[in-house]
Amino acid sequence: MEMAGEARLQASRELVWDALNDPSVLQASIPGCESLERTADNEFTATVVSKVGPIKARFAGKVTLSNITAPKSYTLTGEGSGGAAGFARADIEVSLDALEPTVTLLRYGVKANVGGKLAQLGSRMIDAAARKSADDFFALFEKQVDGLAATAAPAVNGAAFDVEALMMPVTEEPVVVNAPAVAMPAAALAAQADFAPSAPAAHAPHLVPPAAVQPSAAGYQAEVMDVLMSEKIKVWISDQVAVVTLNRPNSRNAMTYAMWLALPSIMAALDRNPDVRAVILTGAGKDFCAGADIPEFEKVRADVAQATAYEVAVDACCDAIAKISKPTIAVLRGYCLGGGAHLAMSCDFRFAAYDAMFGIPAARLSIIYGVKGTRKLLSLVGLPQAKRILYGAQRFDAAHALRIGFVDQVAGSAAEKDGTSTSIWERIFGAKRRPADGDPMAEARAFATSLAGNAPLSMGGAKYLLNGMAMGTGVLDLARSEALIAAAAGSDDYREGRAAFAEKREPKFQGR
Ligand code: COA
Repeated sequence: MEMAGEARLQASRELVWDALNDPSVLQASIPGCESLERTADNEFTATVVSKVGPIKARFAGKVTLSNITAPKSYTLTGEGSGGAAGFARADIEVSLDALEPTVTLLRYGVKANVGGKLAQLGSRMIDAAARKSADDFFALFEKQVDGLAATAAPAVNGAAFDVEALMMPVTEEPVVVNAPAVAMPAAALAAQADFAPSAPAAHAPHLVPPAAVQPSAAGYQAEVMDVLMSEKIKVWISDQVAVVTLNRPNSRNAMTYAMWLALPSIMAALDRNPDVRAVILTGAGKDFCAGADIPEFEKVRADVAQATAYEVAVDACCDAIAKISKPTIAVLRGYCLGGGAHLAMSCDFRFAAYDAMFGIPAARLSIIYGVKGTRKLLSLVGLPQAKRILYGAQRFDAAHALRIGFVDQVAGSAAEKDGTSTSIWERIFGAKRRPADGDPMAEARAFATSLAGNAPLSMGGAKYLLNGMAMGTGVLDLARSEALIAAAAGSDDYREGRAAFAEKREPKFQGR
């Protein structure tokens, strides 16, 4: 008998891992467990009373933990004899993904065998009993974890993000967000022409806002720092994946001017950080981002000069996302509108929740969507759909976004949205628990982790070529492309890739 499942737990991965290794938690979670005592580092003896159909028996046996990769995964093997009732053995593979600092996705796969009288009950009855046991186990385990999380110290799960690092002096040519001269659309267009992604190992942009809207350099520096210090944009790094979260949930994560200015520095710092192999961009709470902060327009986008400068800052921000050499994934829940759509389109991939809503309502505000945002839209959805989106200013749902190519993947199904169908979890376990599938963050993290093992120079080079080609003529620098290809060919990682192939093992890439 084999089965698999998952549960979303509201606790840090470290806490869940400790709970999975704590005999008292395990005893309280295993249905019918009368005793569970540690006999060696990874071994326990256990007594469990279990009822399968008409057969009720007390099983005495042992529990062994193996294949341990703390704090991510292990195999729990339980085997016991129930005397005349027969014997049972289960191998349970458990893995933990840290979705957020205090949200952990637990996945498990069970292979179970029974013998003796139990085996005569027939597979249907055995399967039903095993599924019920698993359901009960995770319900009890979740309760235990909830109790532990309520009393635990705040989670320090993953690496802290060093805000000071953003202030590092820039030794090479900086990416400065300069305002074009007032009322000079040609200058704005020229500033927007350089879309080409940076080579792997990008450099930090200065924290310099457009002069035209800058009350004073120091004044805006302070506002940008405030974005970081007050965590209007949060960064969390775990398992080589950085999660950048727009964090103004009460305003549906609308981007303030200071946030547009701060994000490039964050992306550049993540590009420099060798511990980061992929970046996820998302929003706190229910939404990704409802675009630019509209009330603030009175102050920072009040006239033509400010509007022009503002758009340059938006484009510079989105370019900073598009330019980093590492793979980027936007995780989209709730509203993804206007400038929020531009942020999402600047990522390499877009994973949406089934209830996400998209739109570019520029025509409702008499704004022309910027050159680069329009180009990205065109390259994703094609001319007729781009026109529909921009002229119509209508919102569209995730299913439509997937159909037209605006997003790459939608988690969950439309049927789940209106509650008319049961999920796999509900079918297997009797509708007791909401499944973790349907969570675009879980899917994005799994995808990011799979990319994290690949050669950074190779992915960075492919990104440079593809983005440059997609953005049209004049953007791709062929000499630079050839230089990137040559650098990858001379890299340690290239040697490592060949050696790993020859030795039939997984490569370990360093990004150089
Ligand atoms: N800028 C600033 N605040 C915003 C915002 C934005 N772009 N979008 C939403 N908010 C704020 C709302 O003002 C509201 O704040 P309040 O509670 O202090 O009044 C809060 O977020 C919740 O939004 P609300 O409008 O009450 O929710 P809703 O469900 O009725 O509508 C939207 C949600 C996203 C459809 C609607 O807020 C909207 O159309 N926002 C503007 C989207 C847009 O045009 N973006 C492009 C900008 S270029």
